[in-house]
Amino acid sequence: MKAVILAAGFGTRMRPITHTGPKQLLPLANKPVIQYIVEKLRDAGISELCLIVGYMKAPLMEFLGDGSGFGVKITYRDQLERKGLAHAVSIAKEWVGDDSFIVLLGDIIFNMPIKDMVGQHEASGAPCSVALFPVNDPEKFGVAEVDDGTILRVVEKPKEPKTNLAIAGIYFFSGPEVWDIIGKLKPSARGEYELTDTIETFLKRKRPVNAVKLKGSWKDTGQPEDLLEGNRFILNELTTDIRGTVSEEAVVRGVVAIGKGSTIGKDVIIRGPVTIGEGCTIGPDCIIGPYVSIGNNVTVKNTSIEESIMMDECKIDYPIKLVNSILGRAASVGVGNLSSHTVEFVLGDHSFVRRS
Ligand code: G1P
Repeated sequence: MKAVILAAGFGTRMRPITHTGPKQLLPLANKPVIQYIVEKLRDAGISELCLIVGYMKAPLMEFLGDGSGFGVKITYRDQLERKGLAHAVSIAKEWVGDDSFIVLLGDIIFNMPIKDMVGQHEASGAPCSVALFPVNDPEKFGVAEVDDGTILRVVEKPKEPKTNLAIAGIYFFSGPEVWDIIGKLKPSARGEYELTDTIETFLKRKRPVNAVKLKGSWKDTGQPEDLLEGNRFILNELTTDIRGTVSEEAVVRGVVAIGKGSTIGKDVIIRGPVTIGEGCTIGPDCIIGPYVSIGNNVTVKNTSIEESIMMDECKIDYPIKLVNSILGRAASVGVGNLSSHTVEFVLGDHSFVRRS
């Protein structure tokens, strides 16, 4: 089995962060979203990967390279126009050849092993399987109606969803029929060639489509609040690993990882789960956590941070409580002595907030 990963989109729902980088490289617990996907494929024994790239492809290709650093082999194909997910898949047609293949969106995070999903797809004998996950806001997704493990109907972003089962962005295809269907698709109401319509066509042709119900957690990290939720679920699997220096006047509680060269100073309380990268200076007077991921070379002073992501080289020295925030690389929240406030930020790379 081969894998096609769709990573060409603009990431508009994650702006301003995606003005300066692809959404697939946004870090969860200090590791890019796409790396979790690549490693999960490798762990399932799937080593031939094709990435469909477009917007911000250079940093993505630079990070993943030919895949050898991650134990896989990666090929890249360009999607020059954004014409939808099925169009993106069609670009990999020659590369896939006659093999069965899995299609994954490049910005989803999940913990069910891919091997288990492949097993279910192969056991079903169906030409197509679709992973589903129950959500509270199904109207934002493709939604499936299911009977006894078989999909009966799929609708893209229905106004009145019949179920809460979202199409999770993981699809399996075996046999040549998928190429025939994609080749005959018409653009949807939003002007895109949809994978949801591809599935619906299998059903119209009375072909079985198997439902793979995902176990554990799943998240499409397309929006800031989803990225923060994904960060929470990855941090729940963190293990303690302290390589930096912790002051005797600091308190570290719960599961915490601190990279080498980082110092946790005086009057700092760290409430895990928290991960802090390398070369960071935390303190004095900080409360960090729970559910905070801090990248490399970050400085935090006089600040309280909860449920947030700070990317590399950020700086905060501000007596505020930061919650549900995402700070892009080298963003800074300026120096000052304002009275305490609770604030919420999504700051792109090199942004700053300060009192003039
Ligand atoms: C796409 C699919 C949708 C699926 C979703 C999963 O939506 O079209 O069926 O449920 O991904 O995240 P999009 O993110 O393109 O709006």
